[in-house]
Amino acid sequence: MMNQEQEEFQYHSTDLDLAGEGEGEWSIRCKDVHKRLGGVPVLNGLNVAIPDHKITVVLGPSGTGKSVLIKHVIGLMFPDAGDVVVHGQSVPSLTMPQLLALRQKIGVLFQDGALFGSMSVFDNVAFPLRQHTDTSEAQIAKIVSERLSDVGLADAMDDLPSQLSGGMRKRAGFARALVMEPDIVIFDEPDSGLDPVRTALLCDLIQEMHSLHGGTYVVVTHNIASARQIGQYIALLWRGRIVEAGDAERMFSSDNPFVHQFLSGSAEGPLTMD
Ligand SMILES: Nc1ncnc2c1ncn2[C@@H]1O[C@H](COP(=O)(O)OP(=O)(O)OP(=O)(O)O)[C@@H](O)[C@H]1O
Ligand SMILES: [Mg+2]
Repeated sequence: MMNQEQEEFQYHSTDLDLAGEGEGEWSIRCKDVHKRLGGVPVLNGLNVAIPDHKITVVLGPSGTGKSVLIKHVIGLMFPDAGDVVVHGQSVPSLTMPQLLALRQKIGVLFQDGALFGSMSVFDNVAFPLRQHTDTSEAQIAKIVSERLSDVGLADAMDDLPSQLSGGMRKRAGFARALVMEPDIVIFDEPDSGLDPVRTALLCDLIQEMHSLHGGTYVVVTHNIASARQIGQYIALLWRGRIVEAGDAERMFSSDNPFVHQFLSGSAEGPLTMD
């Protein structure tokens, strides 16, 4: 049972206050987003602002609405109430052509890599360029091999996804997410299904690509070790709201008991299963 005071303490929205002014500093802002799915509230007044040019980790346990949040950012789902603003544009009020244009500037690495099984790695990575641009095949070959070398898959470009390991499939999905030179790259649980060593290597790669290409990276995960490794800004998602968000350094040294319990992955503290 949670009393009123705890509720307020748990779900405040400092970053939204900050985000009110400096439009240019925040790539993505969710303002009091509510969403029910199958009659159940999933997002419950979610407020968050994702800073430009940083790696933000949105950390939350399974089933708290992380993938649902991503779908709102790319306009695959729309809020029942509240607003989602990406680069100053309100996503729910965009026309379909505007939405498609926005999506081209967002690279997404889906939870399972989401590669086309019947296409080679090369064709998978080339797909967005062929679909959305009139880049010549010679230029496509150049861009695709650069991105595949970036992620260490230059030798696997003729393979089918089924011939790759789980980690390689994620790297192929990563190369595809980068191919349109997106301003925002979103990773939905890049570490799911990977062992700790491969997870750490993938996180290294995310950091490397971020320093190479820049942009706003949003990594959604329940993995605290990944958050610690790559998060420059951390937002904690709990029961469809952001408990707290801030620079990683501040968050990891926070003495707020919710934040502390969350980031230490401890069973002891104010957060409970019910
Ligand atoms: N299309 C849908 N219809 C009904 N319920 C849904 C739908 N999509 C998601 N949900 C529910 O919303 C909740 C949040 O789902 P979501 O996939 O965002 O969780 P998550 O935080 O990404 O979890 P995981 O770590 O397991 O990927 C879950 O209870 C899920 O069952
Ligand atoms: Mg998910």
